[in-house]
Amino acid sequence: MSRALMLHEDAPRARVVELEDNQLPDLPVTVDIERSGLNYKDALAITGRGKIVRDLPFVPGIDLTGRVMSSESPDHQVGDEVILTGWGVGERHWGGLAERMRVKPEWLVARPEGMSAEQAMAFGTAGLTAMLCVMRLEEAGLTPQQGPVIVTGATGGVGSWAVQMLAELGFEVHAVSGKAEQRNWLMSLGAYEVHLRSDFEAKGRPLEKSRWAGAVDTAGGQVLANLLAQMHYDGKVAAVGLAAGADLPTSVMPFILRGVSLLGVDSVMINAQRRQQVWQRLASLPANLHSRMQLETVGLDALAERAEAMLDGTISGRVLLDPSL
Ligand SMILES: NC(=O)c1ccc[n+]([C@@H]2O[C@H](COP(=O)([O-])OP(=O)(O)OC[C@H]3O[C@@H](n4cnc5c(N)ncnc54)[C@H](OP(=O)(O)O)[C@@H]3O)[C@@H](O)[C@H]2O)c1
Repeated sequence: MSRALMLHEDAPRARVVELEDNQLPDLPVTVDIERSGLNYKDALAITGRGKIVRDLPFVPGIDLTGRVMSSESPDHQVGDEVILTGWGVGERHWGGLAERMRVKPEWLVARPEGMSAEQAMAFGTAGLTAMLCVMRLEEAGLTPQQGPVIVTGATGGVGSWAVQMLAELGFEVHAVSGKAEQRNWLMSLGAYEVHLRSDFEAKGRPLEKSRWAGAVDTAGGQVLANLLAQMHYDGKVAAVGLAAGADLPTSVMPFILRGVSLLGVDSVMINAQRRQQVWQRLASLPANLHSRMQLETVGLDALAERAEAMLDGTISGRVLLDPSL
């Protein structure tokens, strides 16, 4: 038997249940989960406030790390330390908010040597996505010498990692947050300055004073439209989220008059080779980045309440699941 957070049709939607192994999906690799993480998408699924999950009952959780407990795949041996993020796990396939899950071998990457389960899930999809944004900007030619960069949703999982990573690489990082009280924490992550989100929410002009060489945007909507209007000539924007909305009320002006590049970032379906590359890059970051991250570790029973809090915008940093709690 193992415990899992399961979503149901009837109330309460999210309940902790016990499952026999033969009730888990019939897939070749069984992982004993050491840590998982709570992401924005999980919060939408758990609360039912977003259409993430179609078929109930369902075990949510887009991230997990743990040890292989049994394997019918030659690629994974019993005891291997593995990480799973994306691939529709936690959306179309049962996910990581559980003590144990059965998964496809091709979804798993090896946990880098020396990276603990807690460190892996402190990154999770959020850290992986932040690093993908950084690499996308670098590959487009962005360097610290080109000018300041800006990160929106800065106290969120993706945003707070992006602030730390870009600061570590020598960029002057401007953080945008709706939480004025988190200014000191954002500065401790390496932000050069913290701006209020409300400064970026009003409808602006198609082109504004040029301020930023690069951007990581987790907001979308009017916030992204305003960032695009403020980019330097040849500026680069990694668009990764939709916390402010899925629309993009912009014009072609930033693209055709300033040569701005809008770079899409997806962490769900990137190929296995790129994933391993990103995890190795994450493993190469200095360990002290972890000590600055705000981490809250909870058991299965607390997840439903933390998911509500996440969507209400009252969480900073990362919420981890330790299923043994
Ligand atoms: N493309 C991908 O593969 C991918 C992967 C991971 C996440 N995402 C997306 O990226 C976004 C952030 O994910 P996350 O895991 O970092 O979530 P999170 O930890 O919940 O952080 C979201 C942050 O967005 C900010 N925010 C909240 N409401 C907002 C609003 N109305 N307008 C603007 N900003 C708002 C808040 O930060 P402040 O209070 O500091 O402003 C909040 O902490 C989500 O939209 C998520 O779906 C995409």
